[in-house]
Amino acid sequence: MSNYEIAVLAGDGIGPEIMAEAKKVLSAVEQTCGLSFTLNEYDVGGLAIDNHGQALPEYTLRGCEQADAILFGSIGGPKWDNLPLEQRPERAALLTLRSHFDLFSNLRPAKIYPGLEALSPLRADIAASGFDVLVIRELTSGIYFGQPKGLEGEGEEQFAYDTMRYSKREIRRIAKSAFEAAMKRGKKVTSVDKANVLVCSRLWREVTEEVAKDYPEVELEHIYIDNATMQLLRTPNEFDVMLCSNLFGDIISDECAMITGSMGLLPSASVNETGFGMFEPAGGSAPDIAGKGIANPIAQILSASMMLRFSLNQIEAADLIDDAVLKTLADGVLTGELLSADKRHLAKTTSQVGDAICQHILSSTG
Ligand code: NAD
Ligand code: IPM
Ligand code: MN
Repeated sequence: MSNYEIAVLAGDGIGPEIMAEAKKVLSAVEQTCGLSFTLNEYDVGGLAIDNHGQALPEYTLRGCEQADAILFGSIGGPKWDNLPLEQRPERAALLTLRSHFDLFSNLRPAKIYPGLEALSPLRADIAASGFDVLVIRELTSGIYFGQPKGLEGEGEEQFAYDTMRYSKREIRRIAKSAFEAAMKRGKKVTSVDKANVLVCSRLWREVTEEVAKDYPEVELEHIYIDNATMQLLRTPNEFDVMLCSNLFGDIISDECAMITGSMGLLPSASVNETGFGMFEPAGGSAPDIAGKGIANPIAQILSASMMLRFSLNQIEAADLIDDAVLKTLADGVLTGELLSADKRHLAKTTSQVGDAICQHILSSTG
């Protein structure tokens, strides 16, 4: 029997609540698929600042290095917002983990499932036209990491700066990820940039065009970020793979999540060139709903499925989870944010949704 060591980093806010459901689901997969998981839990984020004095303690990093994959919840929250940037959970833990493991390729798949168009806030005819997009976001470079970065001077003359920086090598490898993904999907890559203003985007276009030559079957189109955000709402069905730099991908993926109905539906995989990865919901710690048992656990559960698919190569188990999620949504077992105000009294809790997904997995044993 295959056994996998998973580093589980639940983090802050809704992190532990939705992670509890992903753990239940992995247990259902163990019972159904003949796999076994050793889940090693480590503190990260604000919780780790409180318990160990830093957002990414050494023992957490070592645990991740020894694991077959990292399952990450979410981090951050008002309690730690006033720390210096470099100590905040977002930078000290999340960005450090991405950089440490060179997790340059971030996959964020968003789709409106047939029959579930009503979950989308888009106009009914637009939602009905379909939406199935894979955002491929560059995750370890660009303006998030470029140097120099800083704050200088005093008074009204004080100024701040960040550096957007991309090497050809960095663009090439993420562009390849996008074209490889497109070959397995709709064979279209839309590269999002701001080439009318940014030098980085000019180089981004140039390298993307070069990579495209190796994939003659894939159609490549370029779009400016501002136009992309509106076309997504106007004609969402025209997109297949969206290739984005770090910051643009951050923004576009939240928009894609919401087109499907909720931030709580969008999973993500962040992988390096060896296939090692960290798997986490695209959304955050949601302080506005934390502790209430109402967060949607699906993004976390689908992140576990992406872990099985992309790092552990357990495709059947991943399919089983995806299918169970789909059935649960189709059954109308929904957390409140997916329901209109007049139906909100029908909302299920985080753990009821997790239980329903587990039931579908367990009852699928052939
Ligand atoms: P957020 O993603 O936490 O929340 C945005 C909105 O989406 C909120 O209304 C929230 O309630 C809703 N939402 C998010 N996940 C949901 C879920 N599973 N179910 C139902 N609703 C959900 O973004 P924010 O409020 O801008 O950030 C809150 C904190 O999270 C900040 O500290 C931010 O830096 C951090 N953050 C962390 C990550 C991460 O750990 N990967 C990602 C994004 C933001
Ligand atoms: C995400 C988050 C992070 C990002 C933050 C918390 C640093 O918004 O994963 O989308 O900007 O990458
Ligand atoms: Mn984000």
